[in-house]
Amino acid sequence: MEELEQKLEYGTYDATIARSAVLEKELLLSPKKFRVLTGDRPTGSLHVGHLFGSLQNRVRLQNLGVPIFIVIADYQVLTDRDSFESISQNVRQLTIDYLAAGLDPDSGHTFIFPHSHIPELNQLLLPFLTLVTNAELDRNPTVKEEILAAGNTRINAGMYTYPVHQAADILFCKANLVPVGKDQIPHLELTRVIARRFNERFAGTESLFPEPHPLLSESPLILGLDGGQKMSKSRNNAIMLGATEDETVNLIKRAKSDPDRTITYDPTNRPEVANLLLLCSLCSGRSPEEIAQEIGDAGAGRLKQQLSESLNEYLRPLRARRRELEKEPEYIRSVLLKGIAASREVAQQTLAQVRKAMNMEI
Ligand code: TRP
Repeated sequence: MEELEQKLEYGTYDATIARSAVLEKELLLSPKKFRVLTGDRPTGSLHVGHLFGSLQNRVRLQNLGVPIFIVIADYQVLTDRDSFESISQNVRQLTIDYLAAGLDPDSGHTFIFPHSHIPELNQLLLPFLTLVTNAELDRNPTVKEEILAAGNTRINAGMYTYPVHQAADILFCKANLVPVGKDQIPHLELTRVIARRFNERFAGTESLFPEPHPLLSESPLILGLDGGQKMSKSRNNAIMLGATEDETVNLIKRAKSDPDRTITYDPTNRPEVANLLLLCSLCSGRSPEEIAQEIGDAGAGRLKQQLSESLNEYLRPLRARRRELEKEPEYIRSVLLKGIAASREVAQQTLAQVRKAMNMEI
């Protein structure tokens, strides 16, 4: 292992942003050079922050013609919470949100699957675990934060090793592009190191695995209706995609604003109002400054009313499709079965190559 050891650097945010801009250009020029994998934990259904933050970007990549694998990371749910009762329901809700947002398995190049159903993917975890040290897993900043958030009691080994599992999620299909948020960059650095070390150790000069790049999207950070933190279901500050129009109006009515009656777009000094304006802008295609100017002295009440109308209108087709999909559990199941079948075939091929490289063929 020693001669393989290349330093694992977790903190490369600025470099990632710069590289993402270059990758964006390449994507437009030659989408066929890319294979995307990304995913989510099935912890519940998705909200407006997900829609503007990641779902729309996935749909955009799909529509460029890029093959896109979407892993529903059900095993990861077990790392930091005790409850598993709702996993299958969450997987179904997540799939409904994906489809309602425009991900389309019928495109022939969009595959949605829970990783627990791809045994060959999971087998990659074993050799991958031998390519990293305990010390490296220990200093993963995202895992450290999650351990703090979990309250430091009896942390299971899955918590330290799930980033290695995530490397298997990404490398089983030889994805070279992974659209993620900032918190996932450490896991991508680890994945790149695992790909590199596997190639060096087992694959000679041939590179069996590509070193995948994270793609940080330019999509804006959506705050919750409390205006202070990222929108998130667990912080109780989210508008769910599946919420009704009345629920949406009521949530926005209670959103935090500030006492200044004149509406201006000032994200630094007026984050709550700026976030409402940003959402309005995303729904209408007009700039937040323009909307602010138009509302002027009419105050936060007027802004909220406008946001409720714009957002409900914007989400109307998605929500209608969502309601239709809710009535078709068999169709949802068939989408997952198709995603599983396609992903398994790819995983079987990769595992065969991996076994050969490791001299484990019989
Ligand atoms: N860790 C990711 C999250 O918590 C989910 C995930 C699992 C993932 N496997 C992945 C994301 C592979 C991107 C690629 O959101």
